[in-house]
Amino acid sequence: MYMKNHWYVAAWSDELGSEPLALTMLDEDVLLYRKRDGTPVALENRCAHRRVPLSKGRIVGDEIQCGYHGLVYDSAGACVKVPGQARAPRGTRVKSYPVIERHAFVYVWMGDPEDADEASIIDFPRLDHPEWGVTKLHLHIEANYLLLIDNLLDLSHVAYLHDTTIGNAPVAEDAEVIHERHGDTVRVTREMVDVPAARTYAEFGSHPGNFDRWQLAEWRPPAYFLINNGSEGTGARKPGRYRVFDQGEWGFQVYHGITPETRRSTHQFWAIAYELSAVPKESRPEFHRQCHQVIREDVAIYEAQQRSLDSDPEGATPENVNERVRIRFDEGLLQAREIIARMSKDEAAEKKGEPISG
Ligand code: FES
Ligand SMILES: [Fe+2]
Repeated sequence: MYMKNHWYVAAWSDELGSEPLALTMLDEDVLLYRKRDGTPVALENRCAHRRVPLSKGRIVGDEIQCGYHGLVYDSAGACVKVPGQARAPRGTRVKSYPVIERHAFVYVWMGDPEDADEASIIDFPRLDHPEWGVTKLHLHIEANYLLLIDNLLDLSHVAYLHDTTIGNAPVAEDAEVIHERHGDTVRVTREMVDVPAARTYAEFGSHPGNFDRWQLAEWRPPAYFLINNGSEGTGARKPGRYRVFDQGEWGFQVYHGITPETRRSTHQFWAIAYELSAVPKESRPEFHRQCHQVIREDVAIYEAQQRSLDSDPEGATPENVNERVRIRFDEGLLQAREIIARMSKDEAAEKKGEPISG
């Protein structure tokens, strides 16, 4: 079950050029293209005539023409032309989706178009800030999206999975961890005081020896993350230091827009943003390389975990995997799972006209 009444990332802005772009989101086949003025359009990627993907066709002005028998649809999904006849059969159309472009993302509203609320789009101002550098990827992952949420709300894994770059043992063993919930947002803050710097921090940051370090992971439904990785010299940190966009003396932000593709696959829009002054130009290729290594290590784990679940003799699934063994650092992700379950249930109830939970 998906939470549909939300904006989901469909593409990075620069992925959507002059050609139609097809992708599956929440089990729905979606077509994206740009009108002549650059405005993005999102339509069902299935011709009303014989169900051929419209992405096999071509963009004609502000419209899209099916590549099979040439039916033309406007940007609202109405069929405006059938070659060889005066007009289209009444009501011939494909579904259209609300779409918005902001901060380098193209977002599509997957729920009832009536409910699409632009104000609910999350702000990622560092993605297009002139003083910030960004490295980003659109990853296609053969795993359920819930496994990604679990990963990002328990960053103790950084100690083991990323132990040749951003991680070392103190990240799991010496961290003070605070789990907070603000409405439907879950925030997990991990603070490590007077610990040795892991490789990436030692190489690019200002403290090659011991320092204070923090990770602040904030999850917002349905599947967005803003992660603040910060550090300072031991003893220099002021109380109340932790804010989502403040990484202290040296650090970087990590953003994730996570879009379920199917129950077993996911689009992950991942970006690292850093102040240009924090990483000198000549160091950026190596810094990016280390960041990319980290996300590739995560992808390999998600996919291995999904394959292991696929053949689990006890029937564990991405949905119930956390009901088995629970450890202390699971608290944040269990809260997120609870919110997802409640929101999904409320959406289903609303659809049926039943009362929703208070
Ligand atoms: S299938 Fe699209 S025009 Fe026939
Ligand atoms: Fe990771």
